[in-house]
Amino acid sequence: MTWKRKDLLGLEELSSEEISLILQTAKSFKEVSTRQIKKVPALRGRTVVNLFFEPSTRTKTSFELAAKRLSADVLSFEVSTSSVSKGETIVDTARNIEAMKVDCFIVRHSVSGAPWLIARSVKAAVINAGDGCHEHPTQALLDLFTVQERFGHLKGLSVAIIGDIRHSRVARSNIWGFSKMGVRVIVCGPPPLVPLGIEEMGCEVTYRLEEAIRQADIIYLLRLQKERQRENYLPSLQEYSRLFGLEERHYQGMNKPFFLMHPGPMNRGVEIRSCLAEKSNSLILEQVTNGIAVRMAVLYLTMGSQR
Ligand code: CP
Repeated sequence: MTWKRKDLLGLEELSSEEISLILQTAKSFKEVSTRQIKKVPALRGRTVVNLFFEPSTRTKTSFELAAKRLSADVLSFEVSTSSVSKGETIVDTARNIEAMKVDCFIVRHSVSGAPWLIARSVKAAVINAGDGCHEHPTQALLDLFTVQERFGHLKGLSVAIIGDIRHSRVARSNIWGFSKMGVRVIVCGPPPLVPLGIEEMGCEVTYRLEEAIRQADIIYLLRLQKERQRENYLPSLQEYSRLFGLEERHYQGMNKPFFLMHPGPMNRGVEIRSCLAEKSNSLILEQVTNGIAVRMAVLYLTMGSQR
């Protein structure tokens, strides 16, 4: 199949064939980052703009490196020193930057739907780098890539996504992505942090961590968003950590081993005991490494479709 979309906004709208195409393309790009000269000319002369209205370590850096490894020029737009602080709208901001003939916007915003608004208003490709509590499609794609690389396949595996499902764009994109690719998805967290009716997305629900761990090939821990404590979803971080934090004891008496994933940033000592992140079953840094190949694939496919 060939890629036909201008934008990559979410995994809800992608077919399993489109997801497979991205994963296959990423596989061919992964080798580029192992070369001494980490560059191919695929997007030479094209311009990518990082438009991040929220902080980021992994996604922003990874998109910048991915674009540079494809030989594109990259502009990292500084929101704090821009005219956004004088009240310019995100659409006006994007349209003014587009008037300088750029080819792609990578958008992160705290408001769900912001990348859709921009995508409707510009001819350039728009890639969602995380919008509010809604979607984070490239995170889920790099997670799928990491699992596929480790197991050699996706179909028939089980993943347990643990934590604050309600506020997690990573959880939402991963539920769409894993379930479309034939992976059984179990979500687990305190009842106030698991939205009612989430099963309609194609996952199962349990409120008991041990039950989720027992059934899964992959334990996917989410960052506990500490700021949510103010909204009274949790009695205390200690209580959360006691009931839903991964500990050494969860590794004992397992009938089968599991791999550990986390999108970052981690709250060591809250959702995960610090030493567990470095255990041999942890894929956390592999996820970060694979983010580059996956984002190279997404840039190449979306910008390639404009040629
Ligand atoms: N996983 C993730 O989105 O991390 P950043 O917020 O650092 O980009």
